[in-house]
Amino acid sequence: MENFSNDVFTILNYQGSKKNLLNFIYKNTIDVIDEKKAVFDIFAGSCSVGYALKRYYRIFANDSEVYSSVIAKALLQYNNKLLWDTYEAQFEKFYQKNHNDLINLFGEYVVKEKELIQEKDVQKIKNFYDNYPTVWNGYLSLYNNTIRTTKDLKIKKDEIPYMLFTTYYANTYFGVHQSIEIDSIRYAIELLEDNALQNVLLAALFYAMKECTFSKDGHMAQPLSIENNKTKLFSVRQKSILEYFQRKLSEFQSSDFVISSHDNVVFNKPISEIYNIDRVKQEVGFIYADPPYTDMQYSRYYHLLNTVTLYDYDDISLYRGKISKGLYREDRFQSPLSQRSTALDQTSILFDYCKANRMNLALSYAYPRDTKQQATNRYTMNIEDIIETAEKKFGRNKINVFTEEYEHSNNRNKDTKKVLEYLIVCKY
Ligand SMILES: C[S@@+](CC[C@H](N)C(=O)[O-])C[C@H]1O[C@@H](n2cnc3c(N)ncnc32)[C@H](O)[C@@H]1O
Repeated sequence: MENFSNDVFTILNYQGSKKNLLNFIYKNTIDVIDEKKAVFDIFAGSCSVGYALKRYYRIFANDSEVYSSVIAKALLQYNNKLLWDTYEAQFEKFYQKNHNDLINLFGEYVVKEKELIQEKDVQKIKNFYDNYPTVWNGYLSLYNNTIRTTKDLKIKKDEIPYMLFTTYYANTYFGVHQSIEIDSIRYAIELLEDNALQNVLLAALFYAMKECTFSKDGHMAQPLSIENNKTKLFSVRQKSILEYFQRKLSEFQSSDFVISSHDNVVFNKPISEIYNIDRVKQEVGFIYADPPYTDMQYSRYYHLLNTVTLYDYDDISLYRGKISKGLYREDRFQSPLSQRSTALDQTSILFDYCKANRMNLALSYAYPRDTKQQATNRYTMNIEDIIETAEKKFGRNKINVFTEEYEHSNNRNKDTKKVLEYLIVCKY
C-alpha cells in the first residue's frame, strides 16, 4: 500500500468520478484482490479506477456508454508511444485536407465569427448564430440545395467532407471554427490504421471538446443561453479545439503515462450482457462496481462524445414534437440502474453473479451525509437497502463497509454536495 502510485489521467470532469478517492478504494480492497487474475472495473466511466490499477494488475473495463469504452481503451490499451511518431505526418495531412474543404464551404462564416468574437457585442453574435445554417433550424443548403437534412448528409456522407459538427452544433455547443476543427480531427482519426492510437486521439478530442463546450461544468447536457452567459461565451469561443487536443495528446506521450505489458480488455455493454461472457468468468477475480447513484442518465450528459465517436449523422430528436434544448441523439441508452424501480434488483443480480462465480466485489455508492437536511429523492437506491441485500447474499461476516466524507467536485456551485462515500467490500 505504501507504494500505491495513485496514477491519474483526466479526460473529463466526470460526474461521480473516483479520481480523488483512489487511496480510499485501494487501501480497502487490496486484501481481496487476487493478483493472479484480472480486476474488472465494470462501470468504468472515466476509467479512473481501472487506470490507477493498471500499473499493478491486468484490467478489464466495461461501460454501457461508447465514449467511456473509448477512454478505457485509450488509457488501458495504448502501450506503445512510438505509434504517434509513425502516424503524426499522415494525421496532419488528413486534418488539413478536411479543414480546407470545410473552409471552402463555410469560410465566410469563420471570418465573420472571428470578427464578432473580437467585437464582443452579444446581440450581434446572437443574431449571427441564430441565422447560421444547421440541420436543426432548417437553413442548411449545400451543393446546390442537394444537402439540406440529416438524411441527405447520411446518404452523401462518403462524397462530402466530414461536417457533422459544422452542420449540427456550430451555433450552440461550439462555434463554427471549433466545429470545423472537431470534424477535421475526426476525419483524420478515421483514416489512421491503428486502433489503439485512434482511441487515444478520440479521447484527446473528448478532452478538447470538454474544455471548449458552451455548457455547464464541462458536461454537455444542454448548451447555455447566449444572453445570460456572455462572458463565458466569449471566453470559450476564443479557444482552439486543435490546441487542447494537442495538449492532451502530449500527455499520452509523456513518461508519466502508465504503460502495461498486460493484455487489458474493454467491453461496451450493458452490465446484463456481461454476465454470460465466459472469459470474464474464467479470467476475472475481483470486480470494482461504481454504478450510477441518481436518476441522471449518463447518455444525456455526454451525448456529444458518443456522436463524435459514432459519427453517424443521427436523426434530430424531438421531444413532444419540438426540438429538445439539448439537441440529443435519437436513441440514447436508458440505464435501469438510473431508475428507482429497477436499480436495487440490478445490484442484487450483480451480487448473485459474483457469489456464483467466486469473485470478490467492492461496490461504491455515494449518499448524502445528512439525510434529514439533504434531499435523497434523486437517488435510485437507499444505502441501507444495498448493505442489507449484500449481507443477505454473501453472509454478514463476509461484508465490510468503509466510509469516507467527500464533497462532489462537479458541483462547484451553490449545490455542493456533501456525501458519504461508501465502499461495500464483499468476499465470496
Ligand atoms: C458513477 S459512474 C462511474 C464513474 C467511474 N468510477 C469513474 O471514476 O469515472 C457510473 C457509470 O456506469 C455506467 N452505466 C450506467 N448504467 C450501466 C449499465 N446498465 N451497464 C453498464 N454501465 C452502466 C454509466 O455510463 C457511468 O459511466
